[in-house]
Amino acid sequence: MLIGVLKEARAGETRVAATPETVGKLRGLGYEVAVEPGAGVASEFSDQAFTDAGASVGGIGEADVVLGVNAPSPEQLAAIKEGATLIAILGPRTDEKIVETLGKLPITALAMDAVPRISRAQSLDVLSSMANVAGYRAVVEAAHQFGRLFTGQVTAAGKVPPAKVLVVGAGVAGLAAIGAASRLGAVVKATDPRPEVGDQVKSMGGEYLSIESPEVEVSATGYAKEMGDDYKAREVELYTEQSADADIIITTALIPGRPAPRLITGEMVARMKPGSVVVDMAAANGGNVEGTVEGQVVRTDNGVTIIGFSDLAGRLPAQASQLYGTNLVNLLKLMTPEKDGQLVLDWDDVVQRSITVVRAGEVTWPPPPVQVSAAPAATEAPTAAPAKEEKAPMSPGRRLGLVLGGFAVLFALIWAAPASLLPHLTVFALAIVIGYYVIGNVHHALHTPLMSVTNAISGIIVVGALLNAVDDETSVLVLAFIATLLASINVVGGFAVTRRMLAMFSRS
Ligand code: NAI
Repeated sequence: MLIGVLKEARAGETRVAATPETVGKLRGLGYEVAVEPGAGVASEFSDQAFTDAGASVGGIGEADVVLGVNAPSPEQLAAIKEGATLIAILGPRTDEKIVETLGKLPITALAMDAVPRISRAQSLDVLSSMANVAGYRAVVEAAHQFGRLFTGQVTAAGKVPPAKVLVVGAGVAGLAAIGAASRLGAVVKATDPRPEVGDQVKSMGGEYLSIESPEVEVSATGYAKEMGDDYKAREVELYTEQSADADIIITTALIPGRPAPRLITGEMVARMKPGSVVVDMAAANGGNVEGTVEGQVVRTDNGVTIIGFSDLAGRLPAQASQLYGTNLVNLLKLMTPEKDGQLVLDWDDVVQRSITVVRAGEVTWPPPPVQVSAAPAATEAPTAAPAKEEKAPMSPGRRLGLVLGGFAVLFALIWAAPASLLPHLTVFALAIVIGYYVIGNVHHALHTPLMSVTNAISGIIVVGALLNAVDDETSVLVLAFIATLLASINVVGGFAVTRRMLAMFSRS
């Protein structure tokens, strides 16, 4: 099949749905790729770079699959051939007109922004990949407007305090902004009505400001809900206090299907220090900040700059295109099970069903709701599979019996063993008891790091076994060989685990 890549028609769009790198991957799935002339120019990918990667430059008229970032223009839609599949960020949740328009065409249309938020679909989640880039860029835009250093410094010429950044909403974009601002050296605080983000904020280098209200509860969907009056009143109190102190405020608060909550009022902005900066990442959805103008930078009377850009991801076009293109490749991998360049729409697959807006000219939007990964597990066990009976704790009598039995076996061994073996046997028995209690009390999540520590113990075993490898007894030699082999496997495994753990913390 032929994949056609659109030259984006929307004014100001800098991204493109494929990059030379993703073209290679699409070809690896068995597809031919044609890119509209100049499609990648705004993201620094020339036509030549695409042809070098194996694509041709030409129209989308013959394409069986059309990839775009935004919904195509009417002219582009008219050029798509009958039976083709269009894949782009179509926005069917908020744009009824696009659903209606697409429904009149003899094509299949898939909306990348409708990927359900389940673990399996994370690699296709374009909302996350774009929000991540946008959160980072929001900090860069703020730093550009902010006339001071982010990081604190003590120099011979005097002390410079670090910038204070408040991030409102700690979802994907908010967490990226927290990470970028704290890496620049700012002191970052963040709020969110979903209390489960507290640890995530901390891990990105920020401080979580919780709003104590009976309405606060762990989200069942991963998204926030519209908060009630009690929460809103406490929120106003917190933002009034924090806005007067913050140098930079980055707002990212959104509630699906609703206008963005208005959180930072004109009065709060008026209390901010001159030179402060506000980035309203929710500008396209109505804005979190009073005074935001979408797509513009405005300066208030008291010298506060409010940035209302709604194209933050597009301001890093090459990487945003690369991430979006990779999201598309991952979708096509899912939809090309034989890797033979033939697109197959699996109607039983929840991801493919959820993103389908139109199937062969028939409107299938909205899809049935999906149980998202953040939702808590069902409280009642299904009747067909009765809950496993809880293992009753061991009775004290049984435990005493086991301990006495253990001692009896130990004494029998001591009685039967030659005198030279006695100290070794005692150390062995003690090691079992101590090891059992030490490892038994380590949290499951820490078993992997624990494995890298066992390197040292395995090393001692290898040394002991090698010392015994000179014995004349064949049985001792065999045992020494087995001990060296097993302990060496453990040493190598320990190093491999340590390497992987360290790689998780490495930035490059
Ligand atoms: P979003 O863009 O809809 O909202 C942004 C943030 O605004 C959210 O953190 C929300 O809690 C917050 N917010 C709403 N009302 C607010 C208020 N009054 N004050 C302050 N903050 C407010 O959500 P986003 O960032 O796209 O994702 C939210 C969550 O969804 C993630 O943190 C994650 O837990 C989950 N998720 C799961 C995925 C998966 O499993 N595939 C993929 C992406 C996200």
